[in-house]
Amino acid sequence: MVSVRIVALLAGLLGAMEMVSAAPTRSTPDSASEVPTRVMVEDDVQPAAVVTPPPCVAMTPAPSVEETQARFDKFANAFLVTKNLTEAFEYIAASYRNHNPFASGDGPGPALDVLGPIWPSTQITVLGTTFQSPQGWLHYRNSMSGEIVDRYRWDAGCIVEHWDQGEKYPGT
Ligand SMILES: *[C@@H]1O[C@H](CO)[C@@H](O)[C@H](O)[C@H]1NC(C)=O
Repeated sequence: MVSVRIVALLAGLLGAMEMVSAAPTRSTPDSASEVPTRVMVEDDVQPAAVVTPPPCVAMTPAPSVEETQARFDKFANAFLVTKNLTEAFEYIAASYRNHNPFASGDGPGPALDVLGPIWPSTQITVLGTTFQSPQGWLHYRNSMSGEIVDRYRWDAGCIVEHWDQGEKYPGT
């Protein structure tokens, strides 16, 4: 992830430099000539653009267990099967707390920043999904990081918390 961000940052900086060097009045031709005027940036290192949905807003009255489970099933299908992050993140609350120690922050934004560039090319094998109110579990194998168990806590129809370190899929 870091390298993707650095490349994107460099691409932005070099783009700005190109604009400067292309300006009609060059005051410092000598130093400008040391700046490369063309930089090839491979398309596949550009972060994929993910449309960020509005965050999930707590429902009043809170949905029933069955309704929450149906929402969890839709979330699981969008996240793991159709891999539509925009749809999946419609279930993530603005107050989303990510307990993954490597997460750069809470809330949907940092999670989308991490997942956006890698998710489209990640191969996912679903091993199981289950909901035991108020929590839902996803168990899958992903070509980037192997076998994963995600645990999500739901509140008033939205995902408000996530754990994925040392989690055990229920019944295993
Ligand atoms: C992904 O989900 C969003 C929100 O539900 C929807 O607008 C969009 O059309 C979906 N994209 C695809 C490729 O199905």
